[in-house]
Amino acid sequence: MTQQIQAAIVGTGFMGSVHARAVTAARGRVRLVVGSSPGRAQELAEAVPGAEPAGFEEALASDVDVVHLCTPNHLHYDMARQALEAGKHVVCEKPLAVSVKEAADLADLAARTGRVATVPFVYRFYASVRLARSLIGAGSRGPWLLHGSYLQDWLASPDADNWRVDAARGGGSRAFGDIGIHWCDLMEFVTGQRITAVQAVLGNAHPVRAGRPSATEDGGVISFRTDDGALGSLVISQASAGRKNRLWFSFDGPDASYVFDQEKPESLWVGGPHANRTLTRDPARAGGRPDALPAGHPQGYHECFADFVADTYAAVRGQTPDGLPTFDAGLRAARLTQAVLDSAAADATWTEIPS
Ligand SMILES: NC(=O)c1ccc[n+]([C@@H]2O[C@H](COP(=O)([O-])OP(=O)(O)OC[C@H]3O[C@@H](n4cnc5c(N)ncnc54)[C@H](O)[C@@H]3O)[C@@H](O)[C@H]2O)c1
Repeated sequence: MTQQIQAAIVGTGFMGSVHARAVTAARGRVRLVVGSSPGRAQELAEAVPGAEPAGFEEALASDVDVVHLCTPNHLHYDMARQALEAGKHVVCEKPLAVSVKEAADLADLAARTGRVATVPFVYRFYASVRLARSLIGAGSRGPWLLHGSYLQDWLASPDADNWRVDAARGGGSRAFGDIGIHWCDLMEFVTGQRITAVQAVLGNAHPVRAGRPSATEDGGVISFRTDDGALGSLVISQASAGRKNRLWFSFDGPDASYVFDQEKPESLWVGGPHANRTLTRDPARAGGRPDALPAGHPQGYHECFADFVADTYAAVRGQTPDGLPTFDAGLRAARLTQAVLDSAAADATWTEIPS
């Protein structure tokens, strides 16, 4: 396929706009926009040159190549299944589904149909993250202590509400299912290690939120072990005042330790036994793309998203881009989420992750 890839965007909220912008930046074309109502579809379509509003069935019956699903979590399963069955390539937002069974069905369907099926674990696309991955991969002794946090404050107020707060729409886990899975995906991607067991304590800043008892967690503390014998700990929260989107990790080894902060993504701190270094992103050195901005022009979330979509579209064209997060990564996240919920429900019992 050499012609321009044509896309339909489903869902017109925060991520619908991010995907639409990324499609254009990746030199694709947004042809159709599907919203929760014709009016919502019209609003986003008017903001994207050349796009038209459409219904979901209409989008599936059209000749668009890729369907981007940017809807609330409980809708992902049915929509992704229908899109794959209609022969479309699919980009489905995380979490891929709200149960392991649904995520496994989708990963299986994607494999059977042979369609490209990806999940935007988009932090994989920071050049500093790729640099950490290549340095760890080249080292002889990997990190043995993997720790970090993912903290936000958009649910800090007891009045803050959103569809994610409703377990029927967001899923049985909120903070872990929404942001913890990003951290775990990133850790496994960077280190090449896999979490084998978790011990989770989940909790709430507010037992009552927006007038209803909180059914899902505002945050948690998770210990884990990996298949390489490493120990880990992760703190997650959506109610930490002042923390906007602070995804932070430190992967520590006897020879080198690596620290990344998503809010300052231009640099990677590398600790050594005799000297520490702060490496500044250099497109020529790691993660560089032909159209990457030169160092000194900071790379941000939108650029990562455009690179993710560009790699998804390269896969649609038959290429095999390195590190593309597929529905298998979405299934992995669903398994981790279920293990965290099971561990927390069993008073922080160590719970194994099925491989
Ligand atoms: N990958 C990331 O970094 C990242 C970041 C934020 C959100 N997300 C994911 O993106 C998804 C959307 O989150 P958001 O923050 O954009 O939420 P949002 O509430 O801003 O947008 C969701 C949109 O879906 C629309 N919608 C609801 N039902 C629909 C239907 N039946 N058909 C079409 N549209 C429908 C709503 O009207 C709304 O506009 C979630 O699954 C979330 O977890 C991913």
